[in-house]
Amino acid sequence: MNYNKITTEDIAFFTSIVGERCTTKADLLAEYGHDQTEDLVFLPEVLVRPETTEEVAKIVAYCHEHTIPVTPSGARTGLSGGALPVKGGVALSMERFNKIIEIDEKNHQVTVEPGVITQVLQDAVREVGLFYPPDPASKGSCFIGGNVSENSGGPKAVKYGVTKDYVLNLEVVLPTGDVIWTGANVLKNATGYNLTQLLVGSEGTLGIITKIVLRLIPHPTEDLLMLVPFYDAEKACEAVAAIFRAGITPSGLEFMERDALLLTMQYEKKSVVEVKDNHAAHLLIEVDGFDLDALMVSCEEITKVLENFETDEILFAESQTQKDQLWKLRRKAGEAVKSHSIYKEEDTVVPRYELPKLLSVVKRIGNHYGFKSVCYGHAGDGNLHVNIIKGDLSDDFWDNELSKAISELFIEVLALGGTISGEHGIGLVQKQYMPLAFSEVQLNLMRSIKTVFDPKGILNPGKIF
Ligand code: LAC
Ligand code: ZN
Repeated sequence: MNYNKITTEDIAFFTSIVGERCTTKADLLAEYGHDQTEDLVFLPEVLVRPETTEEVAKIVAYCHEHTIPVTPSGARTGLSGGALPVKGGVALSMERFNKIIEIDEKNHQVTVEPGVITQVLQDAVREVGLFYPPDPASKGSCFIGGNVSENSGGPKAVKYGVTKDYVLNLEVVLPTGDVIWTGANVLKNATGYNLTQLLVGSEGTLGIITKIVLRLIPHPTEDLLMLVPFYDAEKACEAVAAIFRAGITPSGLEFMERDALLLTMQYEKKSVVEVKDNHAAHLLIEVDGFDLDALMVSCEEITKVLENFETDEILFAESQTQKDQLWKLRRKAGEAVKSHSIYKEEDTVVPRYELPKLLSVVKRIGNHYGFKSVCYGHAGDGNLHVNIIKGDLSDDFWDNELSKAISELFIEVLALGGTISGEHGIGLVQKQYMPLAFSEVQLNLMRSIKTVFDPKGILNPGKIF
């Protein structure tokens, strides 16, 4: 596709729609030229910050007519480069869409604009006893619109599901400038193709989300948290499926390799727990609900299961402060590992029972190619974040050989019945691996869908395929 460069006429048009919220100031273009994916930077030619659906529609229709690339931009916390304006053009920031439009307590629903921070939304519905569970590690800064676009997960997904499980309806500006609602504000919907779920996880390539209707559930009143040290990391992974097979569904079941925990404590400059020399990995296990006695019974049952997996002494969090500290260790792991070295982050996911094999494959391939990895993630979902550390590996290996190792890893993941991204999306950095996960027939179906929505390919170009 040949895209047109931004001209002074284009700028004049955008300014006529959004006034000063259109800018070409270099520092702002630099800011919107990166997200949280490695150290990648792709500058947009202009930053436009609309405030209403009508403004979005006018801008997009203009870009469609003039074949100008438009990259929707949220909080730029993404980990696969989805918000990077790789073809220049317009960075369309949704940050002004920051209103919670209505909390519908009668129907347990909320209508929200995409630029609301996920935690702000969670706190607002919590005020009225309701719960929006999906909680990516970046929940304090990411936008709900980005979560919908990437189908984000997080630790609660293991019991409560991911973003898609809560999205009922979306208002979307199509790449042609048309505005549609994708469905209806109902819990069941067997009416035609499911456009809502097609948009969820489409990484800003099919339309620009301007309103989101989510379902909510009653907020649990009790939770218990335990941290379990294991002498053997694969045993920790084996314990995961065993807990579920014992009939327990934790509300969080997270895995942290020794180095993930150590690097995070170092990064946070706080020694929250003692990691002994023989601790290879930890599981952080949470149960929640409405009946504290029942949760205690669940914890006893979990403890019994764990007896078969060679653990050291289990730490039960005794206060909210301690729970917060332990969760922070887990949530900060990504940031900590990244601050430590140049890295590449993979987001592999396998059926839960295969998790020990996944970990062993990661380490085997690492040994073969000579890289170190730090692994952590949502063990209950079989979702392992694999941070490959550059350390003192050569630039040549990093730039030219590493993708072979990653391909090998993905081939093994697929053979285990898994897939290459559980919750971070494909975006820019994983797209070269899509042919491992999908045949040409499958990829062509996806490409055809893209063309139906976006015949000129202006919306978030260069992503997914
Ligand atoms: C996490 C992010 C990286 O789980 O998904 O920390
Ligand atoms: Zn994660």
